[in-house]
Order: sequence, then structure tokens, then C-alpha cells
Amino acid sequence: MSGAPQPFGLLAEVTHQCPLHCVYCSNPLALLERQDELTTEDWTRVIGQAAELGVVQVHFSGGEPLVRGDLETLVAECRRLGLYTNLITSGLGLTERRAESLVAAGLNSAQLSIQGDAAESTDLVAASKRFDKKEAAARIIRDAGLPLNMNVVLHRLNLDRLDAIIDVCVEWGAERLELANAQYYGWALRNRELLMPSKPQLDEAVGVYERRKAELARQMEMLWILPDYYEPYPKPCMGGWAQSALTVSPDGVVYPCPVAAEITTMEFASVRDHDLAWIWTKSEAFEAFRGTDWMPDPCRSCVRKEIDFGGCRCQAFALTGDAARTDPVCQHSPDHGLVLDALVRANQEDAGDGQLVYRRPTVSAREP
Ligand code: SF4
Ligand code: FES
Repeated sequence: MSGAPQPFGLLAEVTHQCPLHCVYCSNPLALLERQDELTTEDWTRVIGQAAELGVVQVHFSGGEPLVRGDLETLVAECRRLGLYTNLITSGLGLTERRAESLVAAGLNSAQLSIQGDAAESTDLVAASKRFDKKEAAARIIRDAGLPLNMNVVLHRLNLDRLDAIIDVCVEWGAERLELANAQYYGWALRNRELLMPSKPQLDEAVGVYERRKAELARQMEMLWILPDYYEPYPKPCMGGWAQSALTVSPDGVVYPCPVAAEITTMEFASVRDHDLAWIWTKSEAFEAFRGTDWMPDPCRSCVRKEIDFGGCRCQAFALTGDAARTDPVCQHSPDHGLVLDALVRANQEDAGDGQLVYRRPTVSAREP
């Protein structure tokens, strides 16, 4: 094995099928079909290779992972190998029976996403009226004895409702709440003009978050994912490229992060052709931005290069077409004007006008 660090987490994107159509979906713009997906045997092999590589946590995601009828088999394989498992779900398709069988297979935790505090917000952002199903899913998760983690993506269309969103999560019994300000890649970048909050709107939301975090300190853990366009420096995305986690997409292609499929100038290897250890330690794509040697200026000579690792490679590619450039969010980036322009737009009077582009429909909301 090379000098590559040991990965800690595997994001198993078992399908792109999903009953929701979120306007900020982090899946690639070109979604994979069911016939492209890895089989149960493929995933079992991948999980075994991940365990050998040192992975200790497997997050089952999608799309909607509940669409896969073999999820219990995969969770059971993780348990057999001593891996911690987490289900990242929209909650649609979760029944008492399904939750019980997943827990019996060894599922350790679940993260339920909501789009806002009421049916209208789910309809607006995800083109789904099934807010009632989400409330039911929260109850089912708790009744199954799993810790309830919740996640909300925040943006111009729901930030003003933050107090009410937090109330819903408290009422539904969440132990942990991730308030994730939208990150602008893929579908969210397409809808950026409509999703980017104004500065006054964001400042007010930060005030609400701080007040509620203090109030609820003994009851619910709260996490605030920064809206990076408004920050002077970029986020240390993924803790650095290919440092601690890897994502396997539904068709078996392996990426250092869930968005990297959007970097069309790079070639990523598949578990159909190579084992995970080779991909993690030797493949060109994983080696490309590891460490700091690859960095151009201004990162190369910057004191923060081991703090934020030059920011996000996917964001650099999405905004400049070159994944090796400094993240344009950084105030020292030669491309920072691209971010400033977007902020100017977000703070103009007619900001937010226009038509949302929804992720395409792929599956109905029935129980898989
Ligand atoms: Fe980070 Fe590079 Fe900006 Fe320095 S110049 S703060 S390393 S992105
Ligand atoms: Fe891919 Fe940041 S999302 S490196």
C-alpha cells in the first residue's frame, strides 16, 4: 500500500432512483438507471473490500436507498464485518415492517431529510406533497429504537422559516439536526439564482440558529453547515481530497466525494474493474489532489493550505472548468469575482425571480 491515509467512511450510493425531485439534489445531472446499478453480490464484495481497507462506517444513500429491496442483506453484511451503518433517507417508502427488518439486520442509525416545516415547502422544493409521510417516518424511526438524525438544506426559499423548521424537528424527537446551507454544485448550481439567500436574510438566520442552539443545548445537537459563498475562505471540503472517505456510485464508479462525478475532465475507476484498495491508493484520480504538492498559487504559498486544502475541487471545476484551480470562494482566488458576481445578484431587488429546475422524476413514492 502507498502512503495514502486510511479511509474512515464509505458512502454507498446504492441507487439514483428517488420519489423526490429536489432542486438542490447532490446527484449528478445525468442520473443512472436501475439497469446500471451494481448487484447485491457486487455490493457485498465492495463492503468486504471497504472493511479490509479500514472503513468503519457505511452510509447507505441514493437517491432513496429504500428503493433497493436488498438493503437488509447489505446492512447484515456490514454487521457481520463489524461496520457501523447509517441510512440516509427521505423517509418515503419507510414502513414499520421495513424499519423492523433493517434494525433486525443490524442498522445503527437513520438520517431523515425534510425540506421545510410544512407540506408547501416539500412541494415547492421537491415537487412532492408527502410531508405527512416524513412525519410518519420520524415516528417509525424512533419506534424502531434508532436515534433520529434530521437534515434540512437551507436556502432563500426556506431560511426565513428556520425557527419553525427547528420546532418541527424538536416535535418529531430529533436527537441531532444538521442545518446544511445549500452548496452550489449540480442541480443547486442550476438553481443558484433562486436558492442563494440575501445577506440580511442569512444574518437573521444565523441569529435564530445561535439562539435556538443555546436554548436546545441539552435536548438536541445542532450543526450549521456554512454558506460558503459568504465566507472569506473556502471550506476544507471532505477534509481534503481522498483523505478519509470514498463514495461508490450506483454503477460502481468510485469517487473521493459525492459530487466528483461532475468533474468531467477526470477519469474515475470502477469496482467492476479494480478493487477498492487499488482505487484508493493507486488510481490517478484519487492521487490527483492528495496532499499539497498539486496546488497552484496562491494556495502553494498560503499559510492556510493545510487548513482548507485549497477548498473544494468540485466547486473549482463547476465555476472555472478546471478542478485544479483555487476554490473561487477564497478571497485570494483569481476567480473570486465569479462568487462576488453571484452575491451581487443574490442581493438585488429582483433576486429569486425565475423558474426552478427540478431533478427529473425517476420513481413513484410507493413502498419499494
Ligand atoms: Fe485556502 Fe488557497 Fe485561499 Fe489559501 S489561497 S486560503 S490555501 S484556498
Ligand atoms: Fe467534491 Fe468538494 S464536493 S471536493
